[in-house]
Amino acid sequence: TIPVYLDCDTGIDDSLALLYLLHSPEIRLLGIGAVHGNIDAETAARNTLDLLALAGADVPVAIGARDPRAGGYAGGAPHVHGVDGIGGVALPPSGRAAVAESAAEMLVRLAAEHPGELEVLAVGPLTNLAAALDLDPDLPTKVRRVVVMGGAARTSGNVSAVSEANIHNDPEAAALVVAAPWPIVLVPLDVTMAHRFTEADQAALAASADPAARAVGAMLDQYFTFYQGVYGVRGCALHDPLAAALLVGGITATHAPAVPVVVDDTHGPGRGQTLVDLRHQRSGETDVPGAHVRVVLDIDPPLAPHLRERLLARYGPS
Ligand code: BDR
Ligand code: CA
Repeated sequence: TIPVYLDCDTGIDDSLALLYLLHSPEIRLLGIGAVHGNIDAETAARNTLDLLALAGADVPVAIGARDPRAGGYAGGAPHVHGVDGIGGVALPPSGRAAVAESAAEMLVRLAAEHPGELEVLAVGPLTNLAAALDLDPDLPTKVRRVVVMGGAARTSGNVSAVSEANIHNDPEAAALVVAAPWPIVLVPLDVTMAHRFTEADQAALAASADPAARAVGAMLDQYFTFYQGVYGVRGCALHDPLAAALLVGGITATHAPAVPVVVDDTHGPGRGQTLVDLRHQRSGETDVPGAHVRVVLDIDPPLAPHLRERLLARYGPS
């Protein structure tokens, strides 16, 4: 099984991704770092701890960066994820506390304990990963792979014309993480916007005997309302679960060329853009020699049925 460190800003689709990971026997979740983003870092950790407890899982959670590298927490995304990050769904208080180490310290420690094996899944702003690179500049040689939900290659952003939320919320961190020489799989809006949950999926979760599945199903009300404005129908994009499923191998990237990627961390209108160099694709080439970032442009099979199936399987021995 693959040892995994998850970094997240929990978050409704983060919650879906977390539950999916808990139902995935291919991996073992060793630690979770919370980061500012959809919600403040403390609340992200609280949401994560309470959802873990409801799912019957015990994974250490570390609080990470409260602000982006340049400072100034943006205040979350209450219009997308609700004022509590999880659509106003009251999870039973677990009474569990975050661990004393920071998220960056946890990542550095886990990489040292599992050299060449640890895989990192980052589904929030990349502030904790950048802080871990500060703590251990050799980290890229110890981590097997970093899967990042973020960016937009050929499509528009979702916060500005060109920037996606996770990159937008800390472009300085994203620029460092993308430049570091570890194998990165970037899962951009190009693919995540094309994979959705519908009201039928929500109804299936609501009917589950699993309280954690019911809770994430209830969170979808808020997310669906937001996405109704984007798609015109009730449903939602499956951003973070798609990155999780690619890490787990539950679905496969069918077109994911290794190409040069840089992040715009200037203060102009392009701030937060992922500049993905796809020029070579026109001539039928795929990978660009030396490029260490694979950008997922197509997947197979569709995510939603796979995700639904896993979320409806009960976690752990009954
Ligand atoms: C990303 O931003 C957050 O709102 C979601 O949780 C996801 O990680 C999508 O742009
Ligand atoms: Ca997220």
